[in-house]
Amino acid sequence: ADVTPLEIQQAIRNVPDFPQPGIQFKDITPLLGDARLFAGSIDLLTEGFTPGQVDTVVGIDARGFIFAAAAAYRLRAGFVPVRKKGKLPYLTHEQTYQLEYGTNTIAIHVDAIRPGARVLLMDDLLATGGTAAAAAELVRKLGGQILQIAFLIELSHLQGRARLAGYPIRSIVVY
Ligand code: PRP
Repeated sequence: ADVTPLEIQQAIRNVPDFPQPGIQFKDITPLLGDARLFAGSIDLLTEGFTPGQVDTVVGIDARGFIFAAAAAYRLRAGFVPVRKKGKLPYLTHEQTYQLEYGTNTIAIHVDAIRPGARVLLMDDLLATGGTAAAAAELVRKLGGQILQIAFLIELSHLQGRARLAGYPIRSIVVY
C-alpha cells in the first residue's frame, strides 16, 4: 500500500475535551477503519524490516496491540502483550512509572521473550515516553534486544524521545 504519513495524519480525528476538558484526543478509529490506510500504517511502522529479521513484536496495552499484532503477522514474528498490572494470568515482571498525577504499573509474562530475541516495540502514541520506557525496561529485563521502538503518533512537545535515549525511534505522524 502506497500510503503517505500525510494521508495517515488526515485520517486521525482530533476530538476536543476528551476524556477531560482541555485534552484533545487523537482518535485513530477513522484510520483503522480504512483498509488502505490501516495496511499502509503497518507498512510504515515496519519499513526496513523483513520476515526473518524480527523474532517478537511487543505491543503496549491497549491500542498498541492493534498495530503490534498486525506488524507481527506481516513480519512473521511472535506477538507479546505488555499489559496493565493485574491483567496477565501467569507469572509477571512489573514496572512502575510516574504519570503527571500518580503512577502506573505495566507487566509482561516472565517467559514472553527469550534471551537474545530481536524485538520491535510498538505503541499508538508517544507522549511523555513513560509507558514506552517502562515497556523497554521489561523487554530488557527478559534479555530481549530492542531493534526499534515505533509509534504511529508522536506528540513532540512532550519530549518523549528524551526518555527513550539510546533506542532507535520511529514515529509516522509528528505533532
Ligand atoms: C496512551 C498511549 C500510550 C501512552 C503514552 O495509553 O496509548 O500507551 O498513553 O503516554 P506516555 O508516552 O506519556 O507514557 P493509555 O494509558 O491511554 O492506555 P490505553 O491505550 O489503554 O487507552
